[in-house]
Amino acid sequence: MTGSAPGRRRSWAEPYKIKMVEPLRMTTREEREAAIREAGYNTFLLRSEDVYIDLLTDSGTSAMSDRQWAGMMLGDEAYAGSRNFYHLEQAVREVYGYRHLVPTHQGRAAEHILSKILIAPGDVIPGNMYFTTTRLHQELAGGRFVDVIVDEAHDPASEHPFKGDVDLAKLERVIAEHGAEKIPYVCIATAVNMAGGQPISLANLRAVRELCARHGIRVIHDATRVAENAYFIKDREPGCAGKSVAAIVREICDLTDGCTMSAKKDALVNIGGFLALNEDDVFDAARNLVVVYEGLHTYGGMAGRDMEAVAIGLHESVEYDHIRARVGQVLYLGQKIRDFGVPIVLPIGSHGVFLDARASLPHVDQDLYPAQALAAELYLESGVRAMERGNVSAGRDPVTRENRRPRLELVRLTVPRRVYTQAHMDVVAESVAEVYEQRAAIKGLRMVYEPKDLRFFQARFEPLG
Ligand code: F0G
Repeated sequence: MTGSAPGRRRSWAEPYKIKMVEPLRMTTREEREAAIREAGYNTFLLRSEDVYIDLLTDSGTSAMSDRQWAGMMLGDEAYAGSRNFYHLEQAVREVYGYRHLVPTHQGRAAEHILSKILIAPGDVIPGNMYFTTTRLHQELAGGRFVDVIVDEAHDPASEHPFKGDVDLAKLERVIAEHGAEKIPYVCIATAVNMAGGQPISLANLRAVRELCARHGIRVIHDATRVAENAYFIKDREPGCAGKSVAAIVREICDLTDGCTMSAKKDALVNIGGFLALNEDDVFDAARNLVVVYEGLHTYGGMAGRDMEAVAIGLHESVEYDHIRARVGQVLYLGQKIRDFGVPIVLPIGSHGVFLDARASLPHVDQDLYPAQALAAELYLESGVRAMERGNVSAGRDPVTRENRRPRLELVRLTVPRRVYTQAHMDVVAESVAEVYEQRAAIKGLRMVYEPKDLRFFQARFEPLG
């Protein structure tokens, strides 16, 4: 018999087989108690060898393909004019369509250079929710980030299919209030990270483009997870089912003037990033600055071999079988956690499952960092490493110095690409469910060391009581 009987659903599996393995080590509860204490109850400060399943981030944690590893052997490590730079430039033109490429060692370096060039003190940068490093570079350049995402994005329970959309009325108000000359660009992220990996629709992006064009304002794209966003557009947006993911990615990029990119996510590499631009004069300025902060404009902080891996990874990122399995694995994990009755951000996002710590721990005040406490407890219980995305990550308001107390108080279970199997996802979901059952015993944390910038990376805590 060939094919499946009508109406019978076929399971799908990972579109790759495993060629090399890295053994995992399970720890004892006593070992984990010592490890998390030593880490100041901050999962960023754990040693990776003390972690069983590592869902800290999807950044730089992907498994490269055999083609990418083969590309690494073709690294041209010339100081200037490496052939891998030209491959990367070609790949960026083909996959994204931007004309000019400035390589950087990772995403925040591209944000640094762009912010320095475009932002003047007193400027305002509207965006569809902040990202930690992006906003900090905007502030360091003298600008101020203003959130113009739809209200639904701040509501974990809203099942709006495009929670990454811009609220056009909010954006119009910001333009009316400050004037277009104070707005160097509107910053549009795809698969909005801090909202839970939520997509922006093509229709909304088109409307943003039109509004900005009327006022002569640029649109800059944080393309870090654009392929994941494109997958959701194909799946959800009316009229898009027949388009390829690759075509949708091009359509998104064509609606913007340039992008910052952390290649450590969609592009399936362990290190790398870039700035891509259409405007000649902004490109000239960026090419000047990259030499100051990163390296010559044909390597920008990357080895030749790393640029080759990015070039190959960009093409792989828009292959349908890959992206369906990547997002599909996250949806599988999310559905399983949801079936256990644990509150999560809905709809399930593209790069991770976000536990709603506010809903899980209503007895813990936000200044006792419920999401941080929940992440520490999950590690203690199971050796699974997650990350806080709430009051610690949001930091302090630069003017009032108060905690920002964001509406989203989340624990992010971020899934690396092509690294873990469905069985790992089962173990994670069961671990989360167990911690959730014991939630009444979680009391919160007191911050005992607070770094000045991006405090979530290195802050230290002590348990209450
Ligand atoms: N933009 C987005 C949307 C990101 O998610 C990140 C990194 C960056 C920019 C900065 O790029 O790390 O290469 O300098 N996000 C990682 C994360 C760190 O875990 O979400 P980078």
